[in-house]
Amino acid sequence: MKSLSGSLYWLTGASSGIGYAVAKELAEQNAGIIISSRNAEKMDDKVDALKKLGASSVETVSLDLSDGKFEKKIKDVLKDKKLNGVLLNGGGFPGKKTSEHAFQDFVEGNKIMLAGPAQFLLNILPYMKPHKSSVVAITSTSIKEPIATLDLSSIYRSGLVIFLKNLAHEIGHTGIRINNVAPGATSTEHLEEIIEKTAKKNKTSAKEVRSQWENRSALKRMAKPEEIAKVACFLMSKDASFINGQTIVVDGCSTKSYF
Ligand SMILES: NC(=O)c1ccc[n+]([C@@H]2O[C@H](COP(=O)([O-])OP(=O)(O)OC[C@H]3O[C@@H](n4cnc5c(N)ncnc54)[C@H](OP(=O)(O)O)[C@@H]3O)[C@@H](O)[C@H]2O)c1
Repeated sequence: MKSLSGSLYWLTGASSGIGYAVAKELAEQNAGIIISSRNAEKMDDKVDALKKLGASSVETVSLDLSDGKFEKKIKDVLKDKKLNGVLLNGGGFPGKKTSEHAFQDFVEGNKIMLAGPAQFLLNILPYMKPHKSSVVAITSTSIKEPIATLDLSSIYRSGLVIFLKNLAHEIGHTGIRINNVAPGATSTEHLEEIIEKTAKKNKTSAKEVRSQWENRSALKRMAKPEEIAKVACFLMSKDASFINGQTIVVDGCSTKSYF
């Protein structure tokens, strides 16, 4: 494994699940890591573990990716430091039947899945090393096909993918690459919560709902967070130096579409 000693990555939504798996992967390669999420305690719990894995530095930053107030925070943390990579990851939005959405749902869905991450990226771009840095967003297979009740995920994450593609075209001359990973069902706390809630709502067992998620994939299982993280880290690495503006679906073949 190549050492990323001397490099620095800012990972949003990295205190659990897929984001934390990316942090662990980079820590093992001796990278310096800044992790951010809303809950400071949840991040503090992870600092020692990341250092033990080999991270050359670990910093935590409390930040709500949906509030758009990033400029000063980024400046205070980075000062004159430059980044080698950014992971754009955060929360989803509770599912509803299409006809049940209210105006505020659209506002919140947009803030969490499109406006927030897009604004964060625009604010952090000046701190990225030209020709030596890369952005990876975590989206969802909802950008390819509907997932029951996750309309807002389809709507706003597709918007984010369009924004990322356009930005990749606009700033490609700087050598900064921008890609996105669209995971299928991945075994994280977040999905476990969805499974428990769905089971309660449908008056069935969590086991039954979990097996429905597992059966979506041709491999008949969910992804482990590490399986998504490895792809994100590959896209951030020099080995992916000509991959830019792309969506990589990592779903064990659950989507039905050919392209
Ligand atoms: N798991 C899946 O099956 C799956 C599949 C496709 C797509 N996804 C998407 O992938 C992303 C990560 O999923 P996951 O399963 O790894 O979730 P997770 O385990 O719940 O982790 C989400 C991370 O994002 C942080 N976060 C949530 N809302 C945030 C906000 N507004 N601002 C900043 N940080 C925020 C959380 O920390 P705090 O709560 O402390 O902020 C946590 O660190 C989500 O957007 C999810 O919708 C997941």
